[in-house]
Amino acid sequence: MTELTGHRPEGSTQTEVTVALQINGKPVELLVKPLTSLLDALRERLQLTGTKKGCDQGACGACTVLIDGRRVLSCLTLLVQCDGRQVTTIEGLVAPHGQLHPVQAAFVQFDGFQCGYCTPGQIMSAVALLEERQNASDAEIREAMSGNLCRCGAYNGIVDAIRSVRDACNGSTPGAL
Ligand code: FES
Ligand code: FES
Repeated sequence: MTELTGHRPEGSTQTEVTVALQINGKPVELLVKPLTSLLDALRERLQLTGTKKGCDQGACGACTVLIDGRRVLSCLTLLVQCDGRQVTTIEGLVAPHGQLHPVQAAFVQFDGFQCGYCTPGQIMSAVALLEERQNASDAEIREAMSGNLCRCGAYNGIVDAIRSVRDACNGSTPGAL
């Protein structure tokens, strides 16, 4: 893990630290205040605004990203905790030539959203879920996605989308459950 280096700019009351990590496969180094959240660093320093700020207190899941392939709430994660780690955001799912990730394509196909505000978090959570449990039942999908709230109530479409990718990965008929 990269060592954090202390730095106090003139006029600053809080020592800043350098954090080095990979975001969507690219090396990034940022000088930040120690209490800067991963969410604020992504949105305000790196303009990766696909990750949404909902409650900013760990209750809605809108800010979900992956760290080393595991889903985390970026509003409750300090950037300094990500030093030396691999962070993946919704922007990192799209292939270089623009092809959507299968989970993204499924959300479009199965109307897994309405306003779209919760959608990046839902998709990042679903991607991690399908890595964690490739044979998840519908009930397990709903339970595993329960931390991602949708004010539009698009839950049925969200589960349909995740189920279709699960079934495609397992070589069975989509929607066979
Ligand atoms: Fe992070 Fe709501 S913005 S959980
Ligand atoms: Fe609007 Fe989920 S699609 S909050």
